[in-house]
Amino acid sequence: MNIPVLEDLPSPGGKHVLVRCDFNVPITDGQIDDDLRIRLPIETLTWLLDQDAARLTVCSHLGRPKGTPDPRYSMDPVRARLGELLEAAGVDASRVELLENLRFSPGEEDNDPAFVDHLVAGQDLYVDDAFGAAHRAHASIVGPPARLPSAAGRVLAREVEVLDTLLGRAARRPFVAVLGGSKVSDKLGVIEALVDRVDRLLVGGGMCYTFLAAQGHAVGASLLEEDRIDDCRRLLDAGRPPDGGPTIVVPTDLTVLSPGGAFGPGKEPTGEVRQVGADVPGGWMGLDIGPGSAAAFADAIGEAATVFWNGPMGVFEDPRFAAGTRAVAEAAASSRAFTVVGGGDSAAALAAFGLADAVDHVSTGGGASLEYLEQGDLPGLAALRRGAV
Ligand code: 3PG
Ligand code: MG
Repeated sequence: MNIPVLEDLPSPGGKHVLVRCDFNVPITDGQIDDDLRIRLPIETLTWLLDQDAARLTVCSHLGRPKGTPDPRYSMDPVRARLGELLEAAGVDASRVELLENLRFSPGEEDNDPAFVDHLVAGQDLYVDDAFGAAHRAHASIVGPPARLPSAAGRVLAREVEVLDTLLGRAARRPFVAVLGGSKVSDKLGVIEALVDRVDRLLVGGGMCYTFLAAQGHAVGASLLEEDRIDDCRRLLDAGRPPDGGPTIVVPTDLTVLSPGGAFGPGKEPTGEVRQVGADVPGGWMGLDIGPGSAAAFADAIGEAATVFWNGPMGVFEDPRFAAGTRAVAEAAASSRAFTVVGGGDSAAALAAFGLADAVDHVSTGGGASLEYLEQGDLPGLAALRRGAV
């Protein structure tokens, strides 16, 4: 997709530049758990400063504070980290200002023109480097390009280029997509879009139980979206690769937890863990794909030339249910394929296993990358194309 990039801007020398980033990073007790979203756009900020921009006004949302100031979502930890990174890059950080959380104002999510006025006041240029938020038609994303000469920063431009490779005919085959995560309803659109493009679509995570139910399997107390069973059944029948196998591959074995067993953040892990086939015993809960499926998924990834992975295979934060996600992560990391990992939980899993540097591209946007693969466009990109450059 053609979008204006930094070199398309009028010379930034002496100008005031508004830069939208996605600094929505995970923070625990005031500590940033993963600063990737702050590190990557430093390249864009540095370029603008090297071009002698007079001032950069950087802005972002953080969390979902719902239109009112909330100290839990203050930008302070991000501001401190940004300052350190700019200093390490050897640039004049005094020319960079980071605004407070955009979502402290209701105008941001409402895309209120008055809030856009406020953001662009005194600015000469706009740079959007917030790929992770490009699927949100919010004021700071879609507003400024109609008012100022605008372009995509390096992070946004690179994300679009990588995803275009997956969508284009140049994607090398076999193309294997691996999708996990909890809600199948969130993923139906992208499955629909991918099923005719990929050779195999491997399904794990909480969403696989609705597919298993569609195949007539018992799912016990596992996550199930009953109103999506018919959609899953239709997708299982769709798309047949030339070798005749199914496009959508669901687990044939599972790792399950006994009734009443506890798992998840902040809980003492309890209960009995068992390996079963594709049927979950009554009251038990499927929380990971089983070892046979993990090996089969790893083999499919190993044979692929292009891999897209979004969403964990199980509750990997609990070591009892991490094996499936680890197998996928390790297969993606050691594969010779062009490997793209789509944001959020799968990126966190890769990082937890120490494999983040072993794939070709870790997207900074989970929701945004899925929506781009599904729609082929995003509100933030459309705004830049329509914009004033
Ligand atoms: C994300 O983390 O997914 C992006 O920053 C977008 O945040 P949102 O889902 O709260 O709009
Ligand atoms: Mg999100």
